[in-house]
Amino acid sequence: MPSFSSVSSSTRACSASHRGRAASLAALVSLGVGLAGGVAPARATEPSAPSNEPAHVFEIGTDSFLLDGAFFQIRCGELHGPRVPREYWRHRLQMLKAMGMNAVCAYLFWNMHEPRPGEFEWSGQADVAEFCRIAQEEGLWVVLRPGPYACAEWEMGGLPWWLLKHDDIALRSRDPRFVEAARRWLLEVGRELGPLQVSRGGPILMVQVENEYGFYGKDPEYMGDLRTALLDAGFDVPLFACNPRQHLRDGYRDDLFPVVNFGTDPAGAFAALREILPTGPLMCGEFYPGWFDTWGAPHHKGNTERYLADLEHMLQVGASFSIYMAHGGTTFGFWTGADRPFKPDTSSYDYDAPISEAGWVTPKFERTRELMARFLLPGETLPPPPAPNPVISIAPVAATQFAPLFANLPAPVADVVPRNMEAYDQAFGCILYRTEIPAGPAAVLEAAAIHDVGQVFLDGVRVGFTDRRAQVFRVQLPERSKPAVLDILVEAMGRVNFGVEVHDRKGIHKPVTLAVGDEEPRELRDWSVFNLPLDAEMLGALDYAGAPASTPSSATVSNGPGFWRTTVAVDQPGDCFLDMRPWGKGFVWVNGHNLGRFWNIGPQQTMYVPGPWLKPGDNEIVVLDLLGPAEPVVAALELPILDELRPTLDFARGLRREVKLREDFGTPVHAASFAPGSDLQEITFSAPAKGRFFCLQALSAHDGGATSALAEITLLDVAGQPLSTMGWRVGYVDSEEREVEAGTAENAIDGQTANHWRTRLAADAPGHPHRLVLDMGRTREIGGMRYVPIQGAGEVKGRIKDYRVFVADDLILP
Ligand code: GLA
Repeated sequence: MPSFSSVSSSTRACSASHRGRAASLAALVSLGVGLAGGVAPARATEPSAPSNEPAHVFEIGTDSFLLDGAFFQIRCGELHGPRVPREYWRHRLQMLKAMGMNAVCAYLFWNMHEPRPGEFEWSGQADVAEFCRIAQEEGLWVVLRPGPYACAEWEMGGLPWWLLKHDDIALRSRDPRFVEAARRWLLEVGRELGPLQVSRGGPILMVQVENEYGFYGKDPEYMGDLRTALLDAGFDVPLFACNPRQHLRDGYRDDLFPVVNFGTDPAGAFAALREILPTGPLMCGEFYPGWFDTWGAPHHKGNTERYLADLEHMLQVGASFSIYMAHGGTTFGFWTGADRPFKPDTSSYDYDAPISEAGWVTPKFERTRELMARFLLPGETLPPPPAPNPVISIAPVAATQFAPLFANLPAPVADVVPRNMEAYDQAFGCILYRTEIPAGPAAVLEAAAIHDVGQVFLDGVRVGFTDRRAQVFRVQLPERSKPAVLDILVEAMGRVNFGVEVHDRKGIHKPVTLAVGDEEPRELRDWSVFNLPLDAEMLGALDYAGAPASTPSSATVSNGPGFWRTTVAVDQPGDCFLDMRPWGKGFVWVNGHNLGRFWNIGPQQTMYVPGPWLKPGDNEIVVLDLLGPAEPVVAALELPILDELRPTLDFARGLRREVKLREDFGTPVHAASFAPGSDLQEITFSAPAKGRFFCLQALSAHDGGATSALAEITLLDVAGQPLSTMGWRVGYVDSEEREVEAGTAENAIDGQTANHWRTRLAADAPGHPHRLVLDMGRTREIGGMRYVPIQGAGEVKGRIKDYRVFVADDLILP
C-alpha cells in the first residue's frame, strides 16, 4: 500500500464506488451524515489567520484528502506571485477566493530565488513567505511547487542559467552537479517556507516534487533524490508528483502521491490515474481553462463550455483540482521562456484565464463562480470579488531622447572564438560580437547556431537577420571594397522551458564561418565581445542625445537598435496598457521596472502597466527598440490588445531555408491510413528504415478536405523507443497555417499535443498531397512512429487519413 504522506497514511477505509458516492456528496454532507468508513462530516475549514495557530493535520485518505480527519476537496487556482505586482497580491488572492477556490497553487522559480550560486533572494516580488501569509489571511490554503524544475513558460523552466556554465551538465537528472545544486535549493526552501506548513499552523498543505518529470525522463531514483531533499528540508506534509496521463508511470514512485494534469476528458484521465492509484483522492494537478501565447502565433482562447463541463464533472465526483492558470498575470523582465523547439513566449501571460491579466472579472470568472456556488460545503460562502483597481489611459507622448546601442557599448572582452553568453557570466539580455572581415566578393556568413535573434551589421549597416525559430543561421553578405567591421547583435529571448532544449545556452554557438561561392568556409576568429545585460547599471549609464530625424525612405525611424526615453505626466496613477504598435521589438522600463518584452508581430500589442508602478507627476519610460520604431510615441490604453497578429512585420517571414528536394522520393517505407479519432496511434514499419530525412506525405484527410493537420509525431528506433528530437528541425514543409491558427510545422515535433501543424486554410491554398520533411541532422534508423492526431472532440478538420512515409539521406539535396 503506497504511503504518500510523510506522516502515517490515513487509516479510514471507504468502499462506496467513487462515482456514485460523489454524485450525492453534497447531499450526504448536507445531511450531516458521516462518509462511509466513519470519516468526520466535511466542513468548510479555512486556514486560520497566520498567528501561532494550532497545526492542522492534512492527509491523503483512502478516498479523499482529509483535513483534521474530515473530507477535504482541494479547489485550487494557480497564480504566480512573480507574475503579479506585489502590491496586488492580496487583490488577486481575494479574486481567487471569490471565484470559489479554497487554495492557491504556486510554483517557486529557482532561478529567481538563486540568481547566483548560493545567493538567495526572498524579497520584493520574490517574497513567497509573505505571499503565503496573505493567502492564509484571505482564507486560502497553499499547494507549493518548488521544483527544482517548473516549466510554466518561465525562463529555462525555473532552472538557473548558471548551471549551463558546466558544458556537459545533464539537467533534471542524477548528474551530481545538478542534484547537489537542486538539493541546496530545496533545503533553502525548507528554511524559508517550512514554518508555513499546515503542520505548523501555516497554509501549505502539500508540496510537489519536480514537475511533469514523465515528459522528460523515467528515473524514479532522481525523483527520490529530490524527495529526500524535501524531507531533509523539513517538509512533513504530503509530497506529490504531477504528470499528464500518458506519462503517469514514468519516474513513478509509490512514496509520491500522483496527480494527473489534463485540459479535458477528466473521466478518461482519472481512469488512467486509477491504474496506478487504485484508492485515494483523485486530483487534477493542472486543468487548463486557456493556454499560453507565443510570438507570431494566434492568441489562444480556451473552450469555455468544455472547461465548465469538465470542472462540473470534477466537482460532482468530488475530485480535487487546480485551475492552471486561474490568473496568469504578466511575465515581467527577462523571465519569459520559450516552448520547444523554439517558440518564444509572450510577456503577457493572460492565458485566457478566468481572472484577466490586470485582475479583472471575466465572463469565465463569473461562470466559474456560479458553478462553484452550487458545490459549496456547509458553512462555506463566496465573498464578493474585490473592487477592480483604477484604470487610466495616457495620451500619446513623443520619445525625444535616444541613446544608440552602438554608441553606448561597454568595454569589450577579447576572445579568439565567440562563446555563449553564459561563458561570459551573463544571464540575460543581448550580446554583441564584433570582428573585422577583409574586402572581397559577396559571401555567406554562417554560425553553427545563434540563440535567439541575430542582427548582422557591416560597418553599422544592417545586412540581415538570423532566426532560431526557423533554424536559419546564415546571412548573405554583400561585396566589400575595403575591410569591414562585422557586428552580430544577438538577443536572448528567454531560455526554452520544456524538453531537453532547456539546455539552452544563449548567444553564438561557434564556429562562425565565411564562405565565398563553393570555397571551403573559413572560420572567423579574434572577436570583441560586448556584454549587454540590460540591467539597471547599464541603463543608468546610457548617454541620451536628441532623437534622430526620421528618414523619409525608411519605414522606421532607425538609427539602428537603441534606447528611447521620455516622461509621461500622470495625475492619478492607475493600471493601463502601453500601446506598443508603433514600436518594433525589445523591452520597456517604467520608472525602472522592466515590464518585459514586446514584438510588433503580435499577437500581444500592449504591455500591462500596474498602477502601483506609476506615480503622480512625471514617470520615466524607456524603450529599447532593437528594430527601430515606426513612430517613437508612447501612449497607454485602458484595454489590452492580446490578439492582433501582424505577420507581414515579421523580419523572419519566409526565412524558412530554401531547399531543393529530390525529384522523386521513390518507394515509401510505409503506406497506410490513420484511424479516425484523437487517440495516439503507434505504427511499426515492416522493416527498419535508415536516413537523415523523414517525410510524412499526407494524401487525404478523414473530412475529405484540402488541409492536413497533426498534433505530434514521434519517431521510434528499432526497439520501439522514442528518438530524442534534440537538434532536429523542419527541413521542408509545403504549407503551414500561420494566421488563422498557430499551425507552424515545428508544432509537430515540440512534444506538446495541445498544439498542431496545419497546412494553410486559405481557399487558394494547395490541397493534398502535403509533405512534412524532418531533418534529423544525421542518419538515423527508424523502426516506426507514434502519431497523435490533431486533438479535439468529434471529427476535427484535417485529420490525416491516407499517408506515405519516406526515409532517406537525400530527400533534401545539399
Ligand atoms: C505544463 C506545465 C506547466 C505549464 C503548462 C502549459 O503542463 O506543467 O508548467 O507549462 O504545461 O502552460
